[in-house]
Amino acid sequence: MYLTKEEEKLLNGELGEAKRIAIEVIVKVGEVLGADRLVHVSHAHVSGVSYYNVGEAGYEFVKDLHVKGAKAGVFSTLNPVGMDLDLWRRMGIDEAFVKRQLELLELLFSMGFVRVPTCTPYLLRRPGRGERLAWSESSAVGMANTVYGAFTNREPGPLALMASIVGRTYHAGLQVPENRRPTVRVRLKGLDRGFATDEGIASAVGYVVGELLGDAIPYLEAKVTPGFASLKAYTAAAGATGSIALTYVEGVTPGYEEFSEERLDAVEVDEKDVRRVIEERTLDPSEVEAVFVGCPHATEEEIARLLELLKACGRPRYRLIVSTSRHVYENLRRSGALKRLEELGVELLRDTCPVVSPAFTCAFRCVVTSSGKAYFYLPRHQGLRTRLLSLESLGELLCKGR
Ligand code: F3S
Repeated sequence: MYLTKEEEKLLNGELGEAKRIAIEVIVKVGEVLGADRLVHVSHAHVSGVSYYNVGEAGYEFVKDLHVKGAKAGVFSTLNPVGMDLDLWRRMGIDEAFVKRQLELLELLFSMGFVRVPTCTPYLLRRPGRGERLAWSESSAVGMANTVYGAFTNREPGPLALMASIVGRTYHAGLQVPENRRPTVRVRLKGLDRGFATDEGIASAVGYVVGELLGDAIPYLEAKVTPGFASLKAYTAAAGATGSIALTYVEGVTPGYEEFSEERLDAVEVDEKDVRRVIEERTLDPSEVEAVFVGCPHATEEEIARLLELLKACGRPRYRLIVSTSRHVYENLRRSGALKRLEELGVELLRDTCPVVSPAFTCAFRCVVTSSGKAYFYLPRHQGLRTRLLSLESLGELLCKGR
């Protein structure tokens, strides 16, 4: 692999031990993947920082790098952690867990990471077209490549941390323009409007596409341009059931026009596929104990739509848990939406989410969500029976109740 003079110095340890380790790991992984060189990145985003997921091994790994002098060399952000940093008592989180989680976070903050744990780093700093990133949150990777036209592989958490330290990643995978061509065409049959406007339906489409296509690069024909919430729901679900990191969405993805006439194998996703995932006819409302929205972390617009749905009923008939970032939370406070959410008894969590927090392990008999990613992970990580609904049906359920 070709290395610049500065990269040679990094590798020789002339610029410190932490940087030596970081570049050594990146070079080794790059060699395995056939990279010819390294590239600079402008933003690293690190997942796997919930102490619930990484435990002592993750804590020791970060501590060791910290002791060796590791610092974030580029703009660097973190994924959600195991608790709301202010409301952990109310969440019933054990003090020993809190202590370790805070220690782990402080190590990362003191290295220079932005103090806003979230899986929506693109809301903290919008990536530009063709900008190189090293992100390790699969839903955010999908958004970066698909919506913003930035270049990022789906990095493992430790590798994104290494990229943060040296501001570089390997030139392989989706960092290489030739590897970013679509490989399969996806046609939506009778779903265009639902996909564009309802994040539950967009989630279900992503769920099916991920299951069906694995790690392909789909070209998705969209007759109606999807809204931001749909794109966020689709990319998160497709990255959960599959490892899809880039989809060319017609009318959205920068440069999609280049491939609009490309001859590709095609698959069709129809109403029947979506209904298989959404299963709304078989849902027994009397079994539902909570509704969860905000995977990935809810945006202001998504919360505004939720408030709109709740207009029909006032207080929701179920516990309604919404996870979001501190960044969005502050904007909600400024706009007055926070006050309204509090009046309605909505439980707003920052910094965390039900998938990565110990507070939700086996917490409910049945939880309902409009997120395909939560639908995939809540049963697997938290042992929760989970149902996926369209946003429209979720609104009806919240208002009608049992
Ligand atoms: Fe974010 Fe948690 Fe979903 S980290 S993408 S809200 S699983």
